[in-house]
Amino acid sequence: RIAGPSGLVIFGVTGDLSRKKLMPAVYDLANRGLLPPGFSLVGFARRDWENEDFAQVVHDSVKEHARTPFREEVWQQLSEGFRFVQGDFDDDDAFERLRTTVEDLDKVRGTGGNFAFYLSVPPKFFPLVVQQLKEHNLADPTGDSWRRAVIEKPFGHDLKSAVELNRIVHQVFEPDQVFRIDHYLGKETVQNILALRFANTMFEPLWNRSYVDHVQITMAEDIGIGGRAGYYDGIGAARDVIQNHLLQLLALTAMEEPTAFDAQALVAEKIKVLASLQLPADLGRHTVRGQYAAGWQGGEKVRGYLEEEGIDPNSGTDTYAAIKLGIDNRRWAGVPFYLRTGKRLGRRVTEIAVVFQRAPHLPFDTTDTMELGQNALVIRVQPDEGVTVRFGSKVPGTSMEVRDVTMDFAYGESFTESSPEAYERLLLDVLLGDANLFPRHQEVELSWQILDPIEEHWAAHGRPEPYTAGTWGPRAADEMLARDGRSWRRP
Ligand code: BG6
Repeated sequence: RIAGPSGLVIFGVTGDLSRKKLMPAVYDLANRGLLPPGFSLVGFARRDWENEDFAQVVHDSVKEHARTPFREEVWQQLSEGFRFVQGDFDDDDAFERLRTTVEDLDKVRGTGGNFAFYLSVPPKFFPLVVQQLKEHNLADPTGDSWRRAVIEKPFGHDLKSAVELNRIVHQVFEPDQVFRIDHYLGKETVQNILALRFANTMFEPLWNRSYVDHVQITMAEDIGIGGRAGYYDGIGAARDVIQNHLLQLLALTAMEEPTAFDAQALVAEKIKVLASLQLPADLGRHTVRGQYAAGWQGGEKVRGYLEEEGIDPNSGTDTYAAIKLGIDNRRWAGVPFYLRTGKRLGRRVTEIAVVFQRAPHLPFDTTDTMELGQNALVIRVQPDEGVTVRFGSKVPGTSMEVRDVTMDFAYGESFTESSPEAYERLLLDVLLGDANLFPRHQEVELSWQILDPIEEHWAAHGRPEPYTAGTWGPRAADEMLARDGRSWRRP
């Protein structure tokens, strides 16, 4: 899978995402030989840069963040295709310069008229940028060439704004020209959910309400909000990652087998899950939000959210969120899916734990089997990528004592191949026109439909509960599971 003649235009190229993820991803793809020789990268931003300044910034970003070693010959070849276009998004002259730049690259680099436009810009600029692309004849391909729009989250703030955003984007681009980034889908371990489920026979017969007690999906981060106050405050944990990453993980875990491994078939199955999601009747008892207070992390004292730079000291934004969802279908009726995420938690870990029902009967003296928990299959998304199966085993000795043990698959031990970074994989897919790993607008809208009532409930009911940085979140989250006779895993 090698991309054909093409180029990438990044709007908002001076931003963090571009420097930390997109530029290194382009270089890594080139270094792995996955880009065409004339691949071109155009940066568009307000900054008063020349081509050389832009090339220097890409160079520094590659040196700092690329996964693969720096090779002079790859860099030379790639950087000859770098261009910078200076301007504001409402500047018609700048968009004309962008058009001539693109046409010029077709001639000197052989990009063949194939360009992807990456909108790494605050959402309020989406409408303007797509409109400008249309007006300056950049959105419509000619002949056999293609034009694609890549859109970063957040896809709106709620259902209403997401619908409006989709409407605006689709006025200019056909649905199959639009690639929405959810970088979790670019992660190797997330793609493996479908391999695990549908390339094997031993898991799927158990993957239903007859055997599964509940599912826990955790995305815990140890970092705080860093320098992202402007984006994060007023958005919060649920909008930031449950609406997209965690609901996508849920959809992949719960969906039926797709009729084919293509975008249309995958979306069809994911949509069925998202449309069957059921909110608990009592949102007060089955959702929790928290906000980190000062504490210790990794031996260092860290500030509370309200003391972070740029945060309103009265902010009611959630940095932790836990919700319980049901899925109204034959496979999952009655099986709760618990989702939780937070910043400044005990450690960085994302995992999906499918927890099985207890054995209906134990033919042993149960005083000896006290340490036996529930069987579980844990998909370790990151950072310790792999899969763990937990089951009971006889403790060596003269009595019949049974205790939990684990069986582990670790990427590092089973594969010599390295995983591409999520953005690397996704950028390549955009250039190839492969939409398997990109959520469609229906998925985005259904996800907001689930989140909106929760956000409304929270907005009307006081403030998030404080939790000490470095712990596993607010007490109410433990109580929420305890009420169901369950507890969160300590990953
Ligand atoms: C982003 C969120 O989508 O994902 C961030 O906006 C979060 O708040 C990040 O930190 C986590 O990504 P990863 O790949 O490090 O788990």
